[in-house]
Amino acid sequence: MTDALAASLELVADRCGDPTTLVYDRLFAQQPAMRELFITDHGGAARGHMLQMVLETLTNMAEGAAWPANMIRAERINHDQIGVPFDVFATFFTVVHETFREAGGEAWTPDMEAAWTGVLTRAAAA
Ligand code: HEM
Repeated sequence: MTDALAASLELVADRCGDPTTLVYDRLFAQQPAMRELFITDHGGAARGHMLQMVLETLTNMAEGAAWPANMIRAERINHDQIGVPFDVFATFFTVVHETFREAGGEAWTPDMEAAWTGVLTRAAAA
């Protein structure tokens, strides 16, 4: 599962370089109200960093580390305070999954899909 997740990240990097714009375009299409939280993020550094942190969190969660669940719980509360409601917070994981699957195209394997489904189930349980 860990290998398939890592392979999926490599696949996306190979096919489209930095996926940050694709991820946030999809997020803002689904959650238009969230766009204004990033208006001061002109160069996209916060968006890029958050995506990096999310990918790192999911990778470590897939490897069985304990800290990701705590981190997700803490961030859910931090985000609620900056205007991201609990139910919207969790949609980011799905947005990343959908974006990556689409970017992977026909090279996205059943193992990659299973790895993502597995780790997102764990993230949701956190
Ligand atoms: C729709 C859902 C989400 C929205 C709209 C959102 C929005 C934001 C915004 C606006 C910031 C910048 C805060 C600031 O610098 O003042 C941020 C930072 C951050 N977010 Fe999210 N977030 C979402 C989901 C998540 C999820 C699921 C995680 C994963 C645990 C996460 C982890 C982080 C982290 C670690 C930072 C700090 C990044 C840094 O240091 O620049 N976010 N988020």
